[in-house]
Amino acid sequence: MNQHTYITTPIYYVNDRPHIGHCYTTTVADAFARLARLRGTGPVFFLTGTDEHADKVVTNALANKFTPIQWADKNAEQFKLAFAFMGATNDDFIRTTQERHTSRVRGYIAALIKSGDIYLGDYSGWYDPSQEEYLTETVAKDAGFVSPVTGQPLIKRTEKNYFFNLAKYEQRLLQHIEAHKGFIQPESRRNEVLGRLRDGLQPVPVSRAITDDPATQFGIRIPGDDSHRIYVWIDALFNYLSTIDTDDRRAFWPPVHFLAKDILWFHAVVWPALLMALHDADPKTYSFVKLPRAVYAHSYWVREGRKMSKSLGNFVEIETLRAYADKYSLDAVRWYLLTQGPLGSTDADFSHAKFVEIYNANLANGLGNCASRVANMIGKYFAGQVPAPAGPITNEVESFAAGIAERYLALADELNLDAALALGTGLISKVDQFINDTQPFKLAKTIEQNPAARDRLGQILYICAEAIRIATVLLSPAIPGKAAHLFKAWGLPALDTSIGAAHAPLTELARFGGDHALKPGHRLIGDNVKPEPLFLRADPAEAPPA
Ligand code: MSP
Repeated sequence: MNQHTYITTPIYYVNDRPHIGHCYTTTVADAFARLARLRGTGPVFFLTGTDEHADKVVTNALANKFTPIQWADKNAEQFKLAFAFMGATNDDFIRTTQERHTSRVRGYIAALIKSGDIYLGDYSGWYDPSQEEYLTETVAKDAGFVSPVTGQPLIKRTEKNYFFNLAKYEQRLLQHIEAHKGFIQPESRRNEVLGRLRDGLQPVPVSRAITDDPATQFGIRIPGDDSHRIYVWIDALFNYLSTIDTDDRRAFWPPVHFLAKDILWFHAVVWPALLMALHDADPKTYSFVKLPRAVYAHSYWVREGRKMSKSLGNFVEIETLRAYADKYSLDAVRWYLLTQGPLGSTDADFSHAKFVEIYNANLANGLGNCASRVANMIGKYFAGQVPAPAGPITNEVESFAAGIAERYLALADELNLDAALALGTGLISKVDQFINDTQPFKLAKTIEQNPAARDRLGQILYICAEAIRIATVLLSPAIPGKAAHLFKAWGLPALDTSIGAAHAPLTELARFGGDHALKPGHRLIGDNVKPEPLFLRADPAEAPPA
């Protein structure tokens, strides 16, 4: 089987400073990309990047005595650095000012003008200047004629524009959403979109007039009409296609899109309709352009119970995440984001107390302590060598581990990251419980006189160590650094989920007692060596790192 996987994040406004929100979506996408590589059944392409043709880029650039492109270069670099720091294994980083993007977008728009899906007309509507978007009459009214995102007043505007005839695709889109339960996720978001779709669809403006104002001059020109540039949102959506629209990459289509609730409508409605239109406009060139596999819209991070905003100045910025990583490790930060984040339909809180609680429970006292306990006992009682699993193995740990890779992959297919990772932590809990039930420390006291006790002890420790090996594999997309570290410390083949990583398919790698299982006699740890803890316990009383 050679299944291609294509995973994307939104392309972020190059004007912002990277914060937890951007890092979160990119880390979620990264975990799925790593998981797909771990699956080992086909190539993976993971894309992130920056959205650069916004009016704000020009105004801020000029205010700072930069040209727009210099400003974009400087800030795009900050996003690259932030994501590299977070351990993101993106295969590419698209910037909408790159020629490979702009030239292709002009091609797509030209095809849509030719087919009549995009046409010149008059538009009058409620414009949200802070978000650079028009809102429908209903949305504007419900929001009290202020921006639902920033609270700034909406403006009634009329302009000559190019439009995309969205309504033409309404029925096909409805049918697609209804027939594909996983197309928009989570389910509550799907219901929201379905509800709004029933209100009917208006034409979408896809251009902006160019005037003397320099802010209007930065952008991709409408093909054949230099008095208009392509509206930044339409330009931005096409990044997902332009980046892989090359002979060696087209097979990656269709993508799975990760984003947040703020930009769901564009991704779940406008974008699929544009794709249908493009496909039909030139079926020969765009035969590969199917609808996305899924559009996953998570909720928002808030901080210590309060919404993050520019006016409150309380964003969890990349510097804060770096400070947490310095103190608790990068994997601890990834773990907190991935397991406590807003993947569902409610917002999630970044709170220091919660961070420490989860860190201690899952990492320091969970995986870390369990692994060092078991390695310690193997060091002490079996001279560091993996004991033979004498006798038949039937116990709760092994039955939990049976078929665990298949269950994990099925959850990953449903984009249920929480539940997939919970299989890894669940397996660790089973090992802890098994140790409590079987009391290997006590048993060890009798092994000198009693060979049967020695066999039993060996069997218990084998089960524990093998289960920890499997749990580490399953957790590795979330905590790749520590997972790799543990494998190295235990003398196992490299556990790598980064770009180009090669290893056995997950169903083989994570099979209890299978071909990749711990081999009796393997030197897991030096004789009487005390293993270094993977995660040092955190003191809940300590102040947040700054
Ligand atoms: N440029 C557009 C997206 C175009 S995609 C074709 C944009 N950029 S943005 O910089 O505002 O990024 C929005 C995205 O950042 C959200 O959809 C989400 O992925 C992430 N987040 C921003 N703030 C967030 C939180 N407070 N919490 C979680 N994620 C959030 O919109």
